Amino acid sequence: MEECKLSPGGEELDKKLDGALTRAMNKSRFKGKKRETMAGIAPAGVELSRVILIGMGKAEDFDATLAQAMGGELIAQLTSAGEVDAALIVETPQGSNVSHNELAANLAFGARLRAYRFDRYRTKEKEEQKPTLKTVSIMTSDPSAAEREFKPLDGISTGVFFTRDLVSEPANILFPESFAKRCEELSSLGVDVEVLGEAEMQKLGMGALLGVGQGSVRDSQLVIMRWNGHPDKNEPPVAFIGKGVCFDTGGISIKPAGGMEDMKWDMAGAGAVCGAMKALAARSAKANVVGIVGLVENMPDGNAQRPGDVVTSMSGQTIEVLNTDAEGRLVLADAMWYCQDRFKPRLMVDLATLTGAIIVALGHEYAGMFSNSDELSDRLAAAGKSVGEGLWRMPLADSYDKDIDCDVADMKNIGGGRAAGSITAAQFLQRFANKVDWAHLDIAGVAWSKKDKPTIPKGATAFGVRLLDTFISENYEAK
Ligand code: BES
Ligand code: MN
Ligand code: ZN
Repeated sequence: MEECKLSPGGEELDKKLDGALTRAMNKSRFKGKKRETMAGIAPAGVELSRVILIGMGKAEDFDATLAQAMGGELIAQLTSAGEVDAALIVETPQGSNVSHNELAANLAFGARLRAYRFDRYRTKEKEEQKPTLKTVSIMTSDPSAAEREFKPLDGISTGVFFTRDLVSEPANILFPESFAKRCEELSSLGVDVEVLGEAEMQKLGMGALLGVGQGSVRDSQLVIMRWNGHPDKNEPPVAFIGKGVCFDTGGISIKPAGGMEDMKWDMAGAGAVCGAMKALAARSAKANVVGIVGLVENMPDGNAQRPGDVVTSMSGQTIEVLNTDAEGRLVLADAMWYCQDRFKPRLMVDLATLTGAIIVALGHEYAGMFSNSDELSDRLAAAGKSVGEGLWRMPLADSYDKDIDCDVADMKNIGGGRAAGSITAAQFLQRFANKVDWAHLDIAGVAWSKKDKPTIPKGATAFGVRLLDTFISENYEAK
Protein backbone atom coordinates (compact mmCIF):
# COMPACT_ATOMS: atom_id res chain seq x y z
CA MET A 1 0.00 0.00 0.00
CA GLU A 2 1.27 3.40 -0.92
CA GLU A 3 1.69 6.00 1.75
CA CYS A 4 -1.52 7.81 2.54
CA LYS A 5 -1.39 11.59 2.60
CA LEU A 6 -3.60 14.19 4.17
CA SER A 7 -5.23 16.73 1.91
CA PRO A 8 -3.71 20.25 2.03
CA GLY A 9 -6.45 21.41 4.42
CA GLY A 10 -5.92 18.31 6.50
CA GLU A 11 -2.21 19.06 6.71
CA GLU A 12 -2.93 22.56 7.88
CA LEU A 13 -5.22 21.22 10.58
CA ASP A 14 -2.63 18.60 11.50
CA LYS A 15 -0.08 21.38 12.09
CA LYS A 16 -2.48 23.25 14.35
CA LEU A 17 -2.98 20.02 16.26
CA ASP A 18 0.77 19.41 16.62
CA GLY A 19 0.66 16.39 14.35
CA ALA A 20 -2.24 14.66 16.15
CA LEU A 21 -3.78 13.50 12.87
CA THR A 22 -0.55 12.00 11.57
CA ARG A 23 -0.01 10.24 14.89
CA ALA A 24 -3.56 8.90 14.88
CA MET A 25 -3.14 7.60 11.32
CA ASN A 26 0.17 5.96 12.12
CA LYS A 27 -1.19 4.31 15.25
CA SER A 28 -4.32 2.96 13.56
CA ARG A 29 -5.10 0.82 10.60
CA PHE A 30 -6.48 3.78 8.67
CA LYS A 31 -4.96 3.70 5.20
CA GLY A 32 -7.11 6.22 3.36
CA LYS A 33 -8.77 3.54 1.29
CA LYS A 34 -12.01 4.31 -0.53
CA ARG A 35 -14.75 5.20 1.98
CA GLU A 36 -12.64 4.19 4.99
CA THR A 37 -13.38 6.45 7.96
CA MET A 38 -11.72 7.30 11.26
CA ALA A 39 -13.46 9.56 13.74
CA GLY A 40 -12.15 11.23 16.86
CA ILE A 41 -12.92 14.03 19.25
CA ALA A 42 -10.87 17.12 18.42
CA PRO A 43 -8.18 17.94 20.99
CA ALA A 44 -8.26 21.22 22.90
CA GLY A 45 -6.99 24.33 21.18
CA VAL A 46 -9.08 24.29 17.99
CA GLU A 47 -12.62 25.47 17.37
CA LEU A 48 -13.84 22.07 16.33
CA SER A 49 -15.68 19.37 18.24
CA ARG A 50 -14.56 16.38 16.21
CA VAL A 51 -12.42 15.35 13.32
CA ILE A 52 -13.39 12.67 10.83
CA LEU A 53 -10.88 11.36 8.37
CA ILE A 54 -12.30 9.75 5.27
CA GLY A 55 -10.35 7.88 2.64
CA MET A 56 -10.57 8.93 -1.00
CA GLY A 57 -8.61 6.01 -2.42
CA LYS A 58 -6.33 6.70 -5.35
CA ALA A 59 -6.75 10.16 -6.90
CA GLU A 60 -6.97 8.80 -10.43
CA ASP A 61 -9.89 6.50 -9.46
CA PHE A 62 -11.80 9.27 -7.76
CA ASP A 63 -15.17 10.03 -9.35
CA ALA A 64 -18.59 11.53 -8.68
CA THR A 65 -19.99 8.26 -7.31
CA LEU A 66 -17.19 8.07 -4.78
CA ALA A 67 -17.81 11.67 -3.80
CA GLN A 68 -21.45 10.75 -3.15
CA ALA A 69 -20.37 7.77 -1.07
CA MET A 70 -18.08 10.03 0.97
CA GLY A 71 -20.88 12.50 1.58
CA GLY A 72 -23.06 9.59 2.69
CA GLU A 73 -20.49 8.08 5.03
CA LEU A 74 -19.80 11.44 6.63
CA ILE A 75 -23.48 11.92 7.34
CA ALA A 76 -23.72 8.45 8.85
CA GLN A 77 -20.89 9.40 11.23
CA LEU A 78 -22.45 12.70 12.21
CA THR A 79 -26.17 12.23 12.17
CA SER A 80 -26.62 10.75 15.62
CA ALA A 81 -23.38 11.92 17.14
CA GLY A 82 -24.99 14.85 18.93
CA GLU A 83 -23.83 17.45 16.43
CA VAL A 84 -26.39 19.90 15.06
CA ASP A 85 -24.41 21.66 12.32
CA ALA A 86 -21.56 20.42 10.20
CA ALA A 87 -19.42 22.16 7.64
CA LEU A 88 -17.51 20.43 4.87
CA ILE A 89 -14.61 22.31 3.38
CA VAL A 90 -14.26 20.99 -0.13
CA GLU A 91 -10.84 20.33 -1.55
CA THR A 92 -10.40 18.71 -4.92
CA PRO A 93 -7.90 15.88 -4.74
CA GLN A 94 -4.85 16.48 -6.91
CA GLY A 95 -4.76 14.38 -10.03
CA SER A 96 -8.47 13.49 -10.03
CA ASN A 97 -10.89 14.08 -12.91
CA VAL A 98 -13.64 15.52 -10.77
CA SER A 99 -14.05 19.28 -10.90
CA HIS A 100 -14.33 21.28 -7.72
CA ASN A 101 -18.01 22.10 -8.25
CA GLU A 102 -18.87 18.56 -9.22
CA LEU A 103 -17.21 17.33 -6.07
CA ALA A 104 -19.08 19.81 -3.88
CA ALA A 105 -22.43 18.98 -5.50
CA ASN A 106 -21.92 15.24 -5.26
CA LEU A 107 -20.82 15.36 -1.63
CA ALA A 108 -24.07 17.20 -0.89
CA PHE A 109 -26.10 14.74 -2.98
CA GLY A 110 -24.63 11.71 -1.19
CA ALA A 111 -25.15 13.34 2.18
CA ARG A 112 -28.77 14.04 1.39
CA LEU A 113 -29.48 10.54 0.08
CA ARG A 114 -28.02 8.92 3.19
CA ALA A 115 -29.81 11.25 5.61
CA TYR A 116 -33.22 9.91 4.53
CA ARG A 117 -35.30 8.42 7.31
CA PHE A 118 -38.79 6.92 7.30
CA ASP A 119 -39.95 7.59 10.86
CA ARG A 120 -43.55 8.62 10.32
CA TYR A 121 -44.90 6.00 12.71
CA ARG A 122 -42.33 6.23 15.49
CA THR A 123 -44.16 8.36 18.00
CA LYS A 124 -42.32 7.27 21.14
CA GLU A 125 -38.75 7.64 19.99
CA LYS A 126 -36.45 8.84 22.77
CA GLU A 127 -34.54 12.07 22.24
CA GLU A 128 -31.22 10.22 22.14
CA GLN A 129 -32.49 7.96 19.34
CA LYS A 130 -33.38 10.86 17.09
CA PRO A 131 -30.87 12.30 14.67
CA THR A 132 -29.43 15.56 15.91
CA LEU A 133 -27.88 16.86 12.73
CA LYS A 134 -29.95 19.62 11.16
CA THR A 135 -27.72 21.33 8.61
CA VAL A 136 -24.67 20.53 6.58
CA SER A 137 -22.90 23.44 4.91
CA ILE A 138 -20.70 22.73 1.95
CA MET A 139 -17.95 25.35 1.78
CA THR A 140 -16.63 25.87 -1.72
CA SER A 141 -14.73 28.56 -3.59
CA ASP A 142 -17.64 29.16 -5.99
CA PRO A 143 -20.97 28.53 -4.24
CA SER A 144 -23.23 29.64 -7.08
CA ALA A 145 -21.51 27.37 -9.60
CA ALA A 146 -21.72 24.49 -7.13
CA GLU A 147 -25.41 25.20 -6.63
CA ARG A 148 -26.02 25.09 -10.36
CA GLU A 149 -24.30 21.73 -10.42
CA PHE A 150 -26.41 20.56 -7.48
CA LYS A 151 -29.78 21.64 -8.86
CA PRO A 152 -30.53 18.56 -11.01
CA LEU A 153 -29.21 16.29 -8.24
CA ASP A 154 -31.60 17.99 -5.85
CA GLY A 155 -34.44 17.12 -8.26
CA ILE A 156 -33.30 13.51 -8.45
CA SER A 157 -33.16 13.24 -4.67
CA THR A 158 -36.84 14.28 -4.43
CA GLY A 159 -37.65 11.43 -6.82
CA VAL A 160 -35.63 8.95 -4.75
CA PHE A 161 -37.40 10.04 -1.56
CA PHE A 162 -40.81 9.83 -3.19
CA THR A 163 -40.06 6.20 -4.06
CA ARG A 164 -38.61 5.36 -0.65
CA ASP A 165 -41.71 6.80 1.04
CA LEU A 166 -44.07 4.83 -1.20
CA VAL A 167 -42.19 1.56 -0.78
CA SER A 168 -41.84 1.95 3.01
CA GLU A 169 -45.54 2.60 3.65
CA PRO A 170 -47.48 -0.37 5.04
CA ALA A 171 -50.26 -1.83 2.90
CA ASN A 172 -53.09 -0.58 5.13
CA ILE A 173 -51.99 2.96 4.30
CA LEU A 174 -50.77 2.50 0.74
CA PHE A 175 -53.32 0.56 -1.33
CA PRO A 176 -54.19 1.08 -4.99
CA GLU A 177 -56.41 4.14 -4.52
CA SER A 178 -54.22 5.91 -1.95
CA PHE A 179 -51.17 5.12 -4.11
CA ALA A 180 -52.91 6.67 -7.14
CA LYS A 181 -53.71 9.77 -5.04
CA ARG A 182 -50.01 10.19 -4.31
CA CYS A 183 -49.25 9.93 -8.03
CA GLU A 184 -51.68 12.77 -8.61
CA GLU A 185 -49.44 15.02 -6.52
CA LEU A 186 -46.99 14.93 -9.44
CA SER A 187 -49.32 17.14 -11.47
CA SER A 188 -48.02 20.14 -9.49
CA LEU A 189 -44.67 19.55 -11.25
CA GLY A 190 -46.28 19.52 -14.68
CA VAL A 191 -46.76 15.75 -14.99
CA ASP A 192 -50.03 14.84 -16.64
CA VAL A 193 -51.67 12.16 -14.45
CA GLU A 194 -54.65 9.98 -15.37
CA VAL A 195 -56.16 7.30 -13.16
CA LEU A 196 -58.27 4.42 -14.49
CA GLY A 197 -60.49 2.44 -12.10
CA GLU A 198 -61.92 -1.06 -12.44
CA ALA A 199 -64.88 -0.04 -14.59
CA GLU A 200 -62.63 1.62 -17.17
CA MET A 201 -60.21 -1.28 -17.19
CA GLN A 202 -63.14 -3.65 -17.64
CA LYS A 203 -64.11 -1.75 -20.79
CA LEU A 204 -60.55 -2.04 -22.08
CA GLY A 205 -60.66 -5.79 -21.51
CA MET A 206 -57.90 -5.95 -18.90
CA GLY A 207 -58.94 -9.35 -17.57
CA ALA A 208 -55.43 -10.33 -16.49
CA LEU A 209 -54.86 -7.34 -14.21
CA LEU A 210 -58.42 -7.32 -12.89
CA GLY A 211 -58.30 -11.02 -12.04
CA VAL A 212 -55.45 -10.37 -9.60
CA GLY A 213 -57.33 -7.62 -7.76
CA GLN A 214 -60.59 -9.56 -7.72
CA GLY A 215 -60.18 -10.91 -4.19
CA SER A 216 -59.43 -7.53 -2.67
CA VAL A 217 -61.94 -5.06 -1.23
CA ARG A 218 -59.72 -2.33 -2.70
CA ASP A 219 -60.39 -1.08 -6.22
CA SER A 220 -57.54 -1.80 -8.66
CA GLN A 221 -56.06 1.20 -10.46
CA LEU A 222 -53.98 1.96 -13.51
CA VAL A 223 -52.07 5.24 -13.33
CA ILE A 224 -50.69 6.91 -16.44
CA MET A 225 -48.15 9.69 -15.92
CA ARG A 226 -46.84 11.75 -18.81
CA TRP A 227 -43.90 14.12 -18.82
CA ASN A 228 -43.57 15.92 -22.14
CA GLY A 229 -40.34 17.84 -21.79
CA HIS A 230 -39.01 17.35 -25.32
CA PRO A 231 -39.11 20.44 -27.55
CA ASP A 232 -40.74 18.20 -30.18
CA LYS A 233 -44.05 17.23 -28.58
CA ASN A 234 -44.58 14.56 -31.25
CA GLU A 235 -41.38 12.73 -30.39
CA PRO A 236 -42.53 9.19 -29.42
CA PRO A 237 -42.10 8.68 -25.68
CA VAL A 238 -39.89 6.33 -23.75
CA ALA A 239 -42.15 4.22 -21.53
CA PHE A 240 -41.59 2.92 -18.00
CA ILE A 241 -44.00 0.38 -16.55
CA GLY A 242 -44.13 -0.72 -12.93
CA LYS A 243 -45.54 -3.67 -11.01
CA GLY A 244 -47.58 -2.21 -8.19
CA VAL A 245 -48.83 -5.09 -6.07
CA CYS A 246 -49.53 -3.13 -2.90
CA PHE A 247 -49.64 -6.37 -0.96
CA ASP A 248 -48.96 -9.88 -2.24
CA THR A 249 -50.39 -12.60 0.00
CA GLY A 250 -50.10 -15.00 -2.91
CA GLY A 251 -53.90 -15.09 -3.18
CA ILE A 252 -55.48 -18.57 -2.99
CA SER A 253 -51.99 -20.02 -3.67
CA ILE A 254 -51.20 -18.36 -0.35
CA LYS A 255 -47.65 -17.69 0.82
CA PRO A 256 -46.28 -19.04 4.12
CA ALA A 257 -46.69 -16.69 7.11
CA GLY A 258 -42.99 -16.17 7.84
CA GLY A 259 -41.73 -12.99 6.19
CA MET A 260 -45.01 -12.29 4.43
CA GLU A 261 -44.85 -8.70 5.72
CA ASP A 262 -42.08 -8.12 3.17
CA MET A 263 -44.72 -8.28 0.48
CA LYS A 264 -45.80 -4.73 1.32
CA TRP A 265 -42.94 -3.73 -0.96
CA ASP A 266 -44.18 -5.78 -3.89
CA MET A 267 -45.03 -2.40 -5.43
CA ALA A 268 -41.37 -1.29 -5.60
CA GLY A 269 -41.35 -1.41 -9.41
CA ALA A 270 -44.29 0.98 -9.51
CA GLY A 271 -42.62 3.05 -6.80
CA ALA A 272 -39.46 3.37 -8.89
CA VAL A 273 -41.42 4.43 -11.97
CA CYS A 274 -43.19 7.15 -9.96
CA GLY A 275 -39.91 8.35 -8.46
CA ALA A 276 -38.28 8.46 -11.89
CA MET A 277 -41.17 10.52 -13.24
CA LYS A 278 -40.81 12.89 -10.30
CA ALA A 279 -37.04 13.18 -10.82
CA LEU A 280 -37.46 13.91 -14.54
CA ALA A 281 -40.10 16.56 -13.91
CA ALA A 282 -38.20 18.09 -11.00
CA ARG A 283 -35.15 18.66 -13.14
CA SER A 284 -37.21 19.59 -16.23
CA ALA A 285 -35.76 16.83 -18.40
CA LYS A 286 -36.00 17.59 -22.12
CA ALA A 287 -37.56 14.26 -23.02
CA ASN A 288 -40.98 12.71 -23.55
CA VAL A 289 -41.56 9.95 -21.03
CA VAL A 290 -44.63 8.01 -20.01
CA GLY A 291 -44.85 6.09 -16.75
CA ILE A 292 -47.59 3.49 -16.21
CA VAL A 293 -48.20 1.62 -12.98
CA GLY A 294 -50.63 -1.24 -12.43
CA LEU A 295 -51.87 -1.10 -8.84
CA VAL A 296 -53.60 -4.08 -7.23
CA GLU A 297 -53.78 -6.03 -3.99
CA ASN A 298 -53.45 -9.83 -4.21
CA MET A 299 -55.72 -11.32 -1.55
CA PRO A 300 -57.40 -14.66 -0.79
CA ASP A 301 -61.17 -14.23 -0.53
CA GLY A 302 -64.51 -15.80 -1.45
CA ASN A 303 -64.34 -13.77 -4.63
CA ALA A 304 -60.64 -14.35 -5.32
CA GLN A 305 -59.37 -15.87 -8.53
CA ARG A 306 -58.79 -19.64 -8.30
CA PRO A 307 -55.95 -21.76 -9.62
CA GLY A 308 -57.14 -23.05 -12.95
CA ASP A 309 -59.17 -19.94 -13.83
CA VAL A 310 -58.76 -18.72 -17.39
CA VAL A 311 -58.58 -14.96 -17.96
CA THR A 312 -58.55 -12.96 -21.18
CA SER A 313 -55.95 -10.20 -21.32
CA MET A 314 -56.37 -6.89 -23.15
CA SER A 315 -54.22 -8.32 -25.96
CA GLY A 316 -56.85 -11.00 -26.54
CA GLN A 317 -54.46 -13.74 -25.45
CA THR A 318 -55.93 -16.10 -22.84
CA ILE A 319 -54.08 -17.21 -19.73
CA GLU A 320 -54.62 -20.19 -17.47
CA VAL A 321 -53.79 -18.99 -13.94
CA LEU A 322 -52.19 -22.08 -12.44
CA ASN A 323 -50.67 -20.23 -9.50
CA THR A 324 -52.31 -17.09 -8.15
CA ASP A 325 -48.98 -16.10 -6.59
CA ALA A 326 -47.50 -15.52 -10.06
CA GLU A 327 -49.58 -12.35 -10.21
CA GLY A 328 -47.08 -9.65 -11.14
CA ARG A 329 -46.80 -10.86 -14.72
CA LEU A 330 -50.60 -10.77 -15.05
CA VAL A 331 -50.66 -7.12 -13.96
CA LEU A 332 -47.78 -6.18 -16.27
CA ALA A 333 -49.28 -8.06 -19.23
CA ASP A 334 -52.21 -5.65 -19.42
CA ALA A 335 -50.19 -2.55 -18.45
CA MET A 336 -47.61 -3.28 -21.18
CA TRP A 337 -50.20 -4.01 -23.83
CA TYR A 338 -52.09 -0.82 -23.00
CA CYS A 339 -48.85 1.14 -23.11
CA GLN A 340 -47.72 0.04 -26.56
CA ASP A 341 -51.26 0.17 -27.97
CA ARG A 342 -51.97 3.74 -26.83
CA PHE A 343 -48.57 5.46 -26.88
CA LYS A 344 -46.57 3.69 -29.61
CA PRO A 345 -43.47 4.23 -27.46
CA ARG A 346 -39.97 4.02 -28.91
CA LEU A 347 -39.21 1.48 -26.19
CA MET A 348 -40.59 0.06 -22.95
CA VAL A 349 -38.80 -0.77 -19.70
CA ASP A 350 -40.70 -2.57 -16.97
CA LEU A 351 -39.59 -2.84 -13.36
CA ALA A 352 -40.97 -5.50 -11.06
CA THR A 353 -40.29 -7.43 -7.89
CA LEU A 354 -41.26 -10.37 -10.04
CA THR A 355 -39.60 -13.55 -8.81
CA GLY A 356 -37.94 -15.05 -5.75
CA ALA A 357 -35.82 -17.00 -8.25
CA ILE A 358 -33.89 -13.87 -9.25
CA ILE A 359 -32.70 -13.62 -5.64
CA VAL A 360 -31.46 -17.21 -5.84
CA ALA A 361 -29.57 -16.32 -9.03
CA LEU A 362 -28.18 -12.85 -8.27
CA GLY A 363 -28.69 -12.22 -4.55
CA HIS A 364 -29.02 -8.61 -3.47
CA GLU A 365 -26.33 -7.06 -5.70
CA TYR A 366 -27.57 -6.99 -9.27
CA ALA A 367 -31.07 -6.80 -10.68
CA GLY A 368 -31.84 -9.24 -13.49
CA MET A 369 -32.34 -7.76 -16.95
CA PHE A 370 -34.13 -9.44 -19.85
CA SER A 371 -34.47 -7.78 -23.22
CA ASN A 372 -35.27 -8.32 -26.87
CA SER A 373 -32.80 -5.56 -27.83
CA ASP A 374 -29.02 -5.54 -27.42
CA GLU A 375 -28.85 -1.79 -27.85
CA LEU A 376 -31.45 -1.14 -25.18
CA SER A 377 -29.88 -3.53 -22.71
CA ASP A 378 -26.42 -2.02 -23.28
CA ARG A 379 -27.80 1.46 -22.61
CA LEU A 380 -29.59 0.36 -19.47
CA ALA A 381 -26.57 -1.52 -18.16
CA ALA A 382 -24.35 1.51 -18.76
CA ALA A 383 -26.78 3.82 -16.96
CA GLY A 384 -27.02 1.41 -14.05
CA LYS A 385 -23.27 1.07 -13.81
CA SER A 386 -22.74 4.80 -13.67
CA VAL A 387 -25.09 5.21 -10.68
CA GLY A 388 -24.19 2.01 -8.84
CA GLU A 389 -27.41 0.18 -9.72
CA GLY A 390 -26.07 -2.92 -11.41
CA LEU A 391 -28.00 -4.88 -14.02
CA TRP A 392 -27.04 -8.38 -15.10
CA ARG A 393 -28.45 -9.58 -18.39
CA MET A 394 -30.20 -12.94 -18.40
CA PRO A 395 -31.25 -14.97 -21.43
CA LEU A 396 -34.50 -15.21 -23.32
CA ALA A 397 -35.03 -18.03 -25.83
CA ASP A 398 -37.78 -19.92 -27.63
CA SER A 399 -36.85 -23.06 -25.75
CA TYR A 400 -37.81 -21.34 -22.47
CA ASP A 401 -40.88 -19.83 -24.05
CA LYS A 402 -42.29 -23.29 -24.78
CA ASP A 403 -42.40 -23.86 -21.05
CA ILE A 404 -45.44 -21.58 -20.68
CA ASP A 405 -47.39 -23.11 -23.55
CA CYS A 406 -50.66 -24.52 -22.31
CA ASP A 407 -53.29 -27.09 -23.36
CA VAL A 408 -56.19 -25.14 -21.91
CA ALA A 409 -55.42 -21.54 -22.96
CA ASP A 410 -52.85 -19.58 -25.00
CA MET A 411 -50.41 -19.74 -22.11
CA LYS A 412 -50.14 -20.57 -18.42
CA ASN A 413 -48.80 -18.12 -15.87
CA ILE A 414 -46.02 -20.38 -14.54
CA GLY A 415 -43.42 -22.63 -16.11
CA GLY A 416 -43.52 -26.40 -15.95
CA GLY A 417 -41.32 -26.78 -12.90
CA ARG A 418 -39.09 -24.78 -10.59
CA ALA A 419 -36.33 -24.45 -13.18
CA ALA A 420 -35.49 -21.00 -14.64
CA GLY A 421 -38.34 -19.29 -12.78
CA SER A 422 -37.17 -15.75 -13.54
CA ILE A 423 -36.71 -16.54 -17.22
CA THR A 424 -40.12 -18.12 -17.75
CA ALA A 425 -41.63 -15.05 -16.04
CA ALA A 426 -39.77 -12.82 -18.51
CA GLN A 427 -40.87 -15.01 -21.44
CA PHE A 428 -44.43 -14.49 -20.30
CA LEU A 429 -43.97 -10.71 -20.35
CA GLN A 430 -42.36 -10.82 -23.77
CA ARG A 431 -45.61 -12.15 -25.19
CA PHE A 432 -47.15 -8.75 -24.30
CA ALA A 433 -44.38 -6.52 -25.67
CA ASN A 434 -45.82 -6.88 -29.18
CA LYS A 435 -42.30 -6.69 -30.70
CA VAL A 436 -41.65 -3.20 -29.32
CA ASP A 437 -38.08 -2.77 -28.01
CA TRP A 438 -38.48 -3.82 -24.40
CA ALA A 439 -36.48 -4.62 -21.29
CA HIS A 440 -37.67 -6.18 -18.07
CA LEU A 441 -35.82 -5.48 -14.82
CA ASP A 442 -36.50 -8.02 -12.06
CA ILE A 443 -35.71 -6.00 -8.94
CA ALA A 444 -36.96 -8.48 -6.30
CA GLY A 445 -33.48 -8.76 -4.76
CA VAL A 446 -32.53 -5.09 -4.72
CA ALA A 447 -35.66 -3.11 -3.87
CA TRP A 448 -35.08 -3.40 -0.14
CA SER A 449 -31.83 -3.55 1.80
CA LYS A 450 -31.32 -5.10 5.22
CA LYS A 451 -28.07 -3.20 5.69
CA ASP A 452 -26.90 0.38 5.30
CA LYS A 453 -25.03 1.34 2.15
CA PRO A 454 -23.04 4.55 1.61
CA THR A 455 -25.91 6.54 0.10
CA ILE A 456 -28.79 4.26 1.09
CA PRO A 457 -29.93 3.77 4.67
CA LYS A 458 -31.36 0.30 5.24
CA GLY A 459 -34.93 -0.14 4.00
CA ALA A 460 -36.39 0.90 0.66
CA THR A 461 -33.53 1.53 -1.78
CA ALA A 462 -35.45 3.23 -4.61
CA PHE A 463 -33.43 1.04 -6.98
CA GLY A 464 -34.19 2.13 -10.53
CA VAL A 465 -34.93 5.81 -9.99
CA ARG A 466 -31.42 7.04 -10.60
CA LEU A 467 -30.87 4.41 -13.26
CA LEU A 468 -33.92 5.46 -15.29
CA ASP A 469 -33.12 9.14 -14.86
CA THR A 470 -29.58 8.62 -16.15
CA PHE A 471 -30.83 6.35 -18.94
CA ILE A 472 -32.96 9.28 -20.13
CA SER A 473 -30.32 11.98 -19.69
CA GLU A 474 -27.65 9.96 -21.47
CA ASN A 475 -29.75 8.84 -24.43
CA TYR A 476 -33.05 10.60 -25.00
CA GLU A 477 -32.80 14.24 -24.04
CA ALA A 478 -32.77 17.11 -26.50
CA LYS A 479 -29.61 19.16 -26.16
N1 BES B 1 -43.72 -10.88 -5.35
C1 BES B 1 -43.30 -12.20 -5.57
C2 BES B 1 -41.78 -12.29 -5.85
C3 BES B 1 -40.89 -11.97 -4.70
C4 BES B 1 -40.47 -12.95 -3.83
C5 BES B 1 -40.40 -10.69 -4.51
C6 BES B 1 -39.62 -12.66 -2.79
C7 BES B 1 -39.55 -10.38 -3.47
C8 BES B 1 -39.15 -11.38 -2.61
C9 BES B 1 -44.03 -12.78 -6.78
O1 BES B 1 -45.31 -12.32 -6.98
C10 BES B 1 -44.14 -14.25 -6.55
O2 BES B 1 -44.80 -14.63 -5.62
N2 BES B 1 -43.46 -15.03 -7.38
C11 BES B 1 -43.47 -16.43 -7.25
C12 BES B 1 -43.64 -17.02 -8.61
C13 BES B 1 -43.94 -18.49 -8.61
C14 BES B 1 -45.32 -18.74 -8.01
C15 BES B 1 -43.89 -19.01 -10.03
C16 BES B 1 -42.12 -16.85 -6.65
O3 BES B 1 -41.11 -16.22 -6.96
O4 BES B 1 -42.12 -17.76 -5.84
MN1 MN C 1 -46.76 -13.41 -5.88
ZN1 ZN D 1 -45.72 -10.44 -6.27
